[in-house]
Amino acid sequence: MTSPPPAVEVRGLVKTYPARFSLFGRSRAAVQALKGVSLHAKRGETLGIVGESGSGKTTLARSLVGLVRPSAGTILLDGRPVGEHAAGPGSLGAVVQYVFQDPMSSLNPRKSVRQTLSAPLRFLAGLDARAQASRLAELMAAVDLDATFLDRYPHELSGGQAQRIGIARALAAGAGIIVLDEPVSALDVSVQAQVLRLLAELKARRGLTYIFISHDLAVVEAIADRVAVMSAGEIVEEGPPASIFTAPTHPYTRRLVASVPALPI
Ligand SMILES: Nc1ncnc2c1ncn2[C@@H]1O[C@H](COP(=O)(O)OP(=O)(O)O)[C@@H](O)[C@H]1O
Ligand SMILES: [Mg+2]
Repeated sequence: MTSPPPAVEVRGLVKTYPARFSLFGRSRAAVQALKGVSLHAKRGETLGIVGESGSGKTTLARSLVGLVRPSAGTILLDGRPVGEHAAGPGSLGAVVQYVFQDPMSSLNPRKSVRQTLSAPLRFLAGLDARAQASRLAELMAAVDLDATFLDRYPHELSGGQAQRIGIARALAAGAGIIVLDEPVSALDVSVQAQVLRLLAELKARRGLTYIFISHDLAVVEAIADRVAVMSAGEIVEEGPPASIFTAPTHPYTRRLVASVPALPI
């Protein structure tokens, strides 16, 4: 028997944002945001990615879900190239989902929670109206929100509640791989801990694979099974959180670790 492919496999990923020229002279040189990134995550694993601002984390995250077109390299999700997953039910959105940093601005202000969650249930999971109704109730329970929240609008939610809806939306599609780009960075520290606990619980219960991105070492250490450290578009070190954070070998990781005050989580 052959073993199943890793949930996520990235080989030699390069992304160069082209130079821009403007009429008013504010031109910008080309930026090589990813310089040959390779990584993998097994099914059910949480791969943490840490790195300072501008190191290419979001570019990597957006490439994984098809929002950024790489300049070179390959991305396999469940063994299939990202570009080969079609639209509609069973599409890329049913394989991988994205949780955004700013939960409020990632929700459409004109849509109720019910409308926001129904769209992926209908278009990605392919459920009919009756099945949608029971899944909606189940999703709200999964993210520890009362079903009455289905009739609220984003402005009626706290940051933590909005991020729970962002997580429910990612779960709604039935995707097994979830890319979380700084999912708790916009939240108060006490709320951060609650959302991290929820994410860990959901992963354990549903066998999800997380690519968990953060600039915050304490957050990544709390949730990741394995950590990759990014610096200037490259992965410079990789390993279990305990060894990365207690005995970093790369000079960049040492600086990163040294610059962070110990945070109890
Ligand atoms: N759409 C874009 N166009 C041009 N440059 C970009 C774009 N998005 C990001 N960059 C640049 O790519 C580099 C990596 O950015 P990003 O992936 O957002 O890193 P991080 O998430 O680690 O902060 C930065 O230099 C950033 O300015
Ligand atoms: Mg980012």
